[in-house]
Amino acid sequence: MTTVFLNGDFLPAEKATISVMDRGFLFADSVYEVIPVDHGKPQFLAQHLERLQQSLTLILLNNFQINQSDWGNICERLIIDNQFSTTDAVIYIQISRGKQETREFNIPKAIKPTLFATIQPREQLSLSKLQQGYRAITLKDVRPLTTHIKTTALMPTILLQAHVDQANVDQAILIRDGFVTEGIASNLFIVKAGQIITPKLDEKILAGVTRQTLLKHCAKLNIPTTERPIKTAELFSADEVWLTSSSKPIFPLIEIDGKTIADGKPGIIWQQLIKWFLNVSG
Ligand code: PDD
Repeated sequence: MTTVFLNGDFLPAEKATISVMDRGFLFADSVYEVIPVDHGKPQFLAQHLERLQQSLTLILLNNFQINQSDWGNICERLIIDNQFSTTDAVIYIQISRGKQETREFNIPKAIKPTLFATIQPREQLSLSKLQQGYRAITLKDVRPLTTHIKTTALMPTILLQAHVDQANVDQAILIRDGFVTEGIASNLFIVKAGQIITPKLDEKILAGVTRQTLLKHCAKLNIPTTERPIKTAELFSADEVWLTSSSKPIFPLIEIDGKTIADGKPGIIWQQLIKWFLNVSG
C-alpha cells in the first residue's frame, strides 16, 4: 500500500480522503506537477516547484507559498516510506483550491488549499529502448488556450490519448492552425541542417522543465537553437524529431502519420544529447 501525503499527514492511500465539495473534484480547480526520481533522487526539484508556484499564480491561488525545503522533505519521505531509494519513480503533487460550502464558480476569499502528493514507479529507461524510436500521429490540438498552466483539467488530453491508443502508435503531435504545438504531455523539437528548433513559449504549450534544461545545455555546447513556430510540413522534412518530458526525457520519433522521418533511425544530435541527459539525471 502506497503511503501518500495529504494536508500535512503521511498515510496509506486507502485512508487518504478529500471532501466531495473540494473544488479540485467539482471543477478540476487545481494544478499539479510530475517530478522524476532517479535512483531515489528527485530531479530538477527546484524548477518543478517554481513552475508549481507559477501555476498557482496563474489560477489566482495567491494565498499559498511553496516552501522548497518543506516540499523537498515531503518528496524524501515519500521516496523512503515507499521504498524507492534505489529505483526510478515519479512524484505527483496536486494542489487544489480547497473545499467550500456550496458549489459556486466564484473564488471564495477564505479557502484552504488541499495539498496532495504521491509516488509511483517510472518506466525503466534504457538507451537501447529509446534508440528503437517511437511512432506518432498528428492530431488537431483541441485543448483550451490555457495549456501553459499545469492544470488537472485534462479531459482533452484524455480524449487525445484515446485516439493514440486506437491508432496503435506511441505518441501524438498536436497541430493548431497548421503549426505544431507539442506532444500530448511533452514538448517538441525538430532538427534541420544542424539547427535545433522548438516552438516558442506561449499559452498554447507548457514550459517543460526538460525543454528548458535541454535548451540551456545546447547553449553551453554552442549547438544553435531557435524558438519559433514550426509548420506541420516541417515535421516531414526534418532530419530529427523528438519529444521531451519528465517521464521520458528525450525520445526520438522515427515515423509520423505512417511516414518515415529521415532514414528511420534516431539522429546524431539526439544520440549526443540523450547520453548527456541520462548521465546528469541518472
Ligand atoms: N507532462 N507539455 C505538456 C502538456 C505536459 O503535460 C508535459 C509534462 C510537458 C513536458 O514538461 P516536463 O518536461 O516539465 O515534464 C509538456 C507530465 C509528465 C504529465 O502530465 O504527466
